Amino acid sequence: MEKSPGKKLRDMIAKGRIVQTMASHSPLSARLAEEAGFDAIWASGFELSALHGLADVSLITMTQHLESTRAIVSTVHQPVVADIDTGFGNAVNVIHCVRHYEQAGVAALVIEDKTFPKFTSLAAGARQELVSIDCFQGKIGAVAATRKDPDLVIIARTEALIAGLGQSEALRRADAYVEAGADMILIHSRQPEPSEVEAFVQSWSRDIPLVIVPTAYPTLNRQRARELGKIGMIIYGNHAVRAAVTGMQKVFARIIKDGGIQEVNKDIVPVEEIFRLQDMTMVKVWEGLFLR
Ligand code: SPV
Ligand code: MG
Repeated sequence: MEKSPGKKLRDMIAKGRIVQTMASHSPLSARLAEEAGFDAIWASGFELSALHGLADVSLITMTQHLESTRAIVSTVHQPVVADIDTGFGNAVNVIHCVRHYEQAGVAALVIEDKTFPKFTSLAAGARQELVSIDCFQGKIGAVAATRKDPDLVIIARTEALIAGLGQSEALRRADAYVEAGADMILIHSRQPEPSEVEAFVQSWSRDIPLVIVPTAYPTLNRQRARELGKIGMIIYGNHAVRAAVTGMQKVFARIIKDGGIQEVNKDIVPVEEIFRLQDMTMVKVWEGLFLR
């Protein structure tokens, strides 16, 4: 029998691998991440919000994110880690959410301890409100009770450091979330140096792997994570959409400057590369076989 997506992800972590997880906002970006060699795909709320030209403040609905995630899952072979934000409401919303995301085939759910509607984590001077520990334990319990596959990975994300509540509150919350059934803890930070997250990792004494999103402190790379130990996954949280924006800005500016596409043409992928990513070869095979 084929392993479930959750089991595949658990096996990677059990082998001591630091699962390198690339953000995506579309099946195409997920396919490119897969081809580049990432172990897993992050169905990011931030990226999908940006794709719609919207801030990551709970404006994207669960249905929009779910359908995008479903399309990503059906495009790649790697496990997909779904960013379900706060669970789109209270514990009852979480139950609804888990049913649908599990059915869509995700390997893991990341749920965060912010209030709904949330405010994006990396913005400076922003409103960052957390629900009580008790309330969030209820939400984790709702995920655990709803999942059909016991291997579906529950990643509880604490925003205690993002909200400026300090290390002891972050540790207290992480501990409580493990007690409630979390399989992994995502510890988030927006400090420009890794010292805040490193201090957390060094104080973490449980045999439960940690997840980090080093967007703000990029020097914490895979090598450093290995030295620190206890880190089971690194999420590159927004590098697909940022790479896409960088590419489009450069190419669009050149087309305006050059008064046409004649110069830039040689510096972008040919249409044939897009055909390859669209599986055009198979379309031709199917037409040959079945069109009458
Ligand atoms: C996302 O990519 O949606 C995340 C990571 O949740 S962050 O934007 O850093 O909060
Ligand atoms: Mg998010």
